[in-house]
Amino acid sequence: MSAVQVWIVDLVLSPSQVDRCDAVLDAAERARADRFLRPADRARFRASHAALRLVLGDALGLAPADVELAAGAGGKPELAGPARGAADFNLSHSGARALIGLTRGAAIGVDVEAVRPIADALRIAAAHFAADEVTTLAGAPRSAVERRFFGLWTRKEAVVKALGSGLSLPLDRFSVSVPPEAPRLLRAVGDASWNLDGPWSLAEVDCGRDHVATVATRSAEAEITCHRLPDDWPDHLG
Ligand SMILES: CC(C)(COP(=O)(O)OP(=O)(O)OC[C@H]1O[C@@H](n2cnc3c(N)ncnc32)[C@H](O)[C@@H]1OP(=O)(O)O)[C@@H](O)C(=O)NCCC(=O)NCCS
Repeated sequence: MSAVQVWIVDLVLSPSQVDRCDAVLDAAERARADRFLRPADRARFRASHAALRLVLGDALGLAPADVELAAGAGGKPELAGPARGAADFNLSHSGARALIGLTRGAAIGVDVEAVRPIADALRIAAAHFAADEVTTLAGAPRSAVERRFFGLWTRKEAVVKALGSGLSLPLDRFSVSVPPEAPRLLRAVGDASWNLDGPWSLAEVDCGRDHVATVATRSAEAEITCHRLPDDWPDHLG
């Protein structure tokens, strides 16, 4: 059984709060933030990375600025330095919301998506998802297709992100249950470059009406506790 913490973060901050976020980022994060053209995207990147440092620092007994991060083999961020291997985590952001998943000893992936109008959900699903997922989605009432599409997307993306291999896992080679069915991994075709064997736990995260989110862990069972950072969370960055 894995104990999993999921943190929901509001990314809409005042300019002074964004400055406080910036102060705890490392040089690589600042360089990435500077590459965003739109100030709102830049601010949300800074906010989500500062929130990740706050959550990780709290779990590890470190100041947010002292958390050392590096990219793993598939590009998945992981702890580096003295805290290397002390926790497994994953970050996702969409619109004004970020989601952080934190556990120990099990690979974890999280994905949050803002539910937004999408005219060609079934065409996108047919182009990228597994045939059984597309069939189930196509049977949904029209009014439910968008929310179920994004829910399905977060389930697949959370699995991909737990694996950490980025785009190398073809999304039509594994299937998950489609909302409103409870989330679970249904079928996977492995090959040498990626492997979905072994137990998985998938769970929906309630992020409010406008977002859908999933957490996936490579463990037989996961005890998930959901938390929300307080509105004044940037004041706790130190
Ligand atoms: C890396 C990837 C998994 C991120 O997904 P995304 O939905 O664009 O963005 P999210 O906000 O959920 O996640 C981004 C965060 O994931 C983390 N991340 C980066 N590379 C990762 C990897 N290989 N594995 C897991 N997490 C990763 C980072 O913390 C990143 O935050 P940052 O960009 O601010 O540094 C994505 O680019 C990808 O490769 N997706 C493949 C699957 C796909 O095409 N899905 C489409 C619909 S199902």
